[in-house]
Amino acid sequence: MSAPNKSYDPVEVEALKPEEIERMRDEALAAFASAGDLDALAHAKTAHAGGTSPLALANREIGALPPQAKAEAGKRVGQARGAVNKAYAERLAQLEAERDERVLVEEAVDVTLPYDRVPAGARHPLTTLMDRVADIFVAMGYEVAEGPEVEAEWFNFDALNFTPDHPARQMQDTFFVQGPKGVEADESGVVLRTHTSPVQARSLLDREPPVYIVCPGRVYRTDELDATHTPVFHQVELLAVDKGLTMADLRGTIDHMVKELFGDETTTRLRPHFFPFTEPSAEMDMQCYVCRGESVGNPDRPCRTCSSEGWIELGGCGMVNPKVLTACGVDPEVYSGFAFGFGIERMLMFRHNVEDMRDMVEGDVRFTRPFGMEI
Ligand code: DAH
Repeated sequence: MSAPNKSYDPVEVEALKPEEIERMRDEALAAFASAGDLDALAHAKTAHAGGTSPLALANREIGALPPQAKAEAGKRVGQARGAVNKAYAERLAQLEAERDERVLVEEAVDVTLPYDRVPAGARHPLTTLMDRVADIFVAMGYEVAEGPEVEAEWFNFDALNFTPDHPARQMQDTFFVQGPKGVEADESGVVLRTHTSPVQARSLLDREPPVYIVCPGRVYRTDELDATHTPVFHQVELLAVDKGLTMADLRGTIDHMVKELFGDETTTRLRPHFFPFTEPSAEMDMQCYVCRGESVGNPDRPCRTCSSEGWIELGGCGMVNPKVLTACGVDPEVYSGFAFGFGIERMLMFRHNVEDMRDMVEGDVRFTRPFGMEI
């Protein structure tokens, strides 16, 4: 039996030889120095400073040494590991600083770049104006009603007391919808509604009086598109049917709407007219809200808005014809009603000095955006 191994013989533990430890340390330092980014450094750290790195393994060997040799080997390995950890920390700091600098450059925000490459549009002023008119009536308790744009001829004409030979029924004014095979368009009984008035009949058939409805909507007529005509346009229709309604209620209602839209000083007038579905019927005008009539007979002060006429034509109105009430199942002995309808395009033109109707249909945001969200 040999005597206990009391003298430290480095040859016996290969991994703890000074030159071996030095080599391990130098390899670690070289690996850290050559790590080009944080990922590579993390790998190098695992390989050279991790739990299974050569230096960690060597450290474990220390226990096997004779007591006298432990201190020296421990010091040597400890110094090497200290140097490795220090080198790692330095390289880490260096690479992190480089990354931060790069991120600052790469992720810098160029505040001069356009921020809205897809510019936000705006609601179309026709829509906004229709909503605004509808709101005036909703505030008074009216209900918003809708009807189809492809409409039965009966609703568009017959229920509204248009006689079969009424000129508005002609092909040159009305878009007739092609019928099923073999049925000519003018025999199909289906049209694109030429006005919002058929919603009057639909609303009366749907509801029990009292009926108070406002109906903004799209309508169609066979006009060519030019500065003052468009085959597709918009109207707002109003209908009130109740006990005891008179022309005075109609007048007051029109007055209220006009004052809400054009200011409290704006007055209105009615001129006798004819519509098959109202009796009596009238055309409604409002006083020009720009010149307030002062341009009339005054060549020094011409007014573009009313063409120096002092009045602006709004649309048609009247007391609902008893024949319409009867056609819709309402007893004209008990109920009476008033109605009016007017074009939104025309109102947008004189309210906002839009000179060409084509601007409203072309869909160019340069027209729409200046109106913003509220008009
Ligand atoms: N529907 C008519 C048109 O398009 C306008 C109109 C006139 C509507 C009189 C009405 C009304 O409600 O009473 O020309």
